[in-house]
Amino acid sequence: MFIASLYNLKGGVGKTASSVNFAYMAAKDGYRTLLWDLDPQGAAGYYYHAHAAIKSSVKKIIEHELSIHEAILPTPYDKLNIIPADNSARKLDILLDAQQGTKKTFKNMLKEVAGDYDFVFIDCPPGFSNVADNIFFASDAVLMPVIPTTLSMRTYEQVKAHFEDKDIDLGKLMCFFTMADTRKNMHNETMQQLYKDKRFFEHYIPNLSDVEKMGVRHAPLEAFAPSSYANICYRALWTEIKEGVLE
Ligand SMILES: Nc1ncnc2c1ncn2[C@@H]1O[C@H](COP(=O)(O)OP(=O)(O)OP(=O)(O)O)[C@@H](O)[C@H]1O
Ligand SMILES: [Mg+2]
Repeated sequence: MFIASLYNLKGGVGKTASSVNFAYMAAKDGYRTLLWDLDPQGAAGYYYHAHAAIKSSVKKIIEHELSIHEAILPTPYDKLNIIPADNSARKLDILLDAQQGTKKTFKNMLKEVAGDYDFVFIDCPPGFSNVADNIFFASDAVLMPVIPTTLSMRTYEQVKAHFEDKDIDLGKLMCFFTMADTRKNMHNETMQQLYKDKRFFEHYIPNLSDVEKMGVRHAPLEAFAPSSYANICYRALWTEIKEGVLE
């Protein structure tokens, strides 16, 4: 089971859109896939029309009152299951603190489903937190969408410094560009600069309105616009990621 989290310190960079699309594509490729929405905003679940069936499920899982299996819901798509976010995700940091400071909470929780899935995608809330550190520890890859702006370069350096500070394997950090507008010099220059770091996948996601339509259609791109340029870009990126992480 390969665990990939979609993370960035910055908000609004395409974490949710990417987790929703990658999870769909992995399932379509035949992998048994679980998408875990850990952002209390609940956007990933929203895209899949999924609502938590059990109140405070994340809290109950952490406190061993509920098995992770009981929080998992099917989606309309073959091989794709989801754990939607619920309100208790807002207090995740406090809940994790109460677990005696272990960074292994999520890793241990996910062990329960290790035999059931090939891929787990975690849609993370932005920011540094106990939750983020726990997810980094559990993840085989931390996939970080980056909008190619000057501010994003700074954020990228902050995330790298945080990994080093917390002794998290930097090899897990794999990045890709989102919402890129190659008509802008600043985007081009930032991309050329960051590509040198060898931590960025070559394929990127341009700024395209079809991605925004996912919210209206409540579906991943490939389900409602398979031949759109946005989906072609997501497919190409997913293929590169898949080959990169499974090699
Ligand atoms: N490639 C893209 N082109 C155009 N719009 C995009 C693209 N990717 C995402 N968006 C839009 O940008 C907004 C933010 O995207 P998304 O919710 O995926 O980001 P996020 O990193 O998960 O945000 P948050 O930090 O709030 O969880 C959404 O309205 C989404 O539709
Ligand atoms: Mg999000």
